[in-house]
Amino acid sequence: MGEGIKLPVLNGLGRTNRIDNWWSQPMAMGIGLTAALLYTFWRLFLYDADISYALHGSTVMSPIFSPNVLEWNLFGLNEWNHPEWVNAAILVLWIPFGFRGTCYYMRRVYYRTFFASPTACWVDEPDINKAIGYKGEKRLFIFNNLHRYFLYAAMVILVIKWWDVTHTMHFHSATHDGYGVSIGTFVMGIEAFLLTMYVTSCHALRHLAGGMLDRWTTGISRVRGVLFGKISVLNRSHGFWFWTSLIFVFLGDLWVLAVAEGRLSDMVLFVV
Ligand code: FES
Repeated sequence: MGEGIKLPVLNGLGRTNRIDNWWSQPMAMGIGLTAALLYTFWRLFLYDADISYALHGSTVMSPIFSPNVLEWNLFGLNEWNHPEWVNAAILVLWIPFGFRGTCYYMRRVYYRTFFASPTACWVDEPDINKAIGYKGEKRLFIFNNLHRYFLYAAMVILVIKWWDVTHTMHFHSATHDGYGVSIGTFVMGIEAFLLTMYVTSCHALRHLAGGMLDRWTTGISRVRGVLFGKISVLNRSHGFWFWTSLIFVFLGDLWVLAVAEGRLSDMVLFVV
């Protein structure tokens, strides 16, 4: 049934019978991802100053440079006489990059925006795509299969993000002594919250929680079934959490940069 039926598709890159602005979403996403890559490159390799600031003894760390492993006494890292161009982000960013780069939602975005494969529903793709055809996740794309391992590493980063939030809440100066909240706490707290939502709505986490089981009938499997259901609800908005958490990484970094350079001021809202 249906064999030999030709859909009324117009041939040629971007040609379609669609009358809506089908190109606006992939274009906006392409611009967003390109801007994110350029900004990250600038911060990593061209301007890695002002990665944190202190406020009455608390520390607010840029999300791009967290965790600042060069400050940790981990494998003697804080004593390592590293080359000048090495910074914390260069050592750690492969985790969020790997996690986001192999994300199921991200794959959909970059296949459409950068490879036009597919360009969009009912919109023709470039001839080169037709010539190559779909080869599956082979060669470079085989790395996509590592997503679940990046998830484990991202969970560790997530815990450290919340640890960073606690560092914004501990004040010890002549005028402020105790635990409290500053604007920086809110900025870092929102960033950590959005990242939490992004990680907990992950397809691989859903599979890990209960998707890998055949049935959820007894004992622990029943609990895992419930967990699967809960993550499935979050998973419906995975794209939303992807973008908001990504945007807040850069807003958080801009905030830290602006305060560290004296362009904006942070303030303690309350201390107890
Ligand atoms: Fe997107 Fe796992 S599928 S983070």
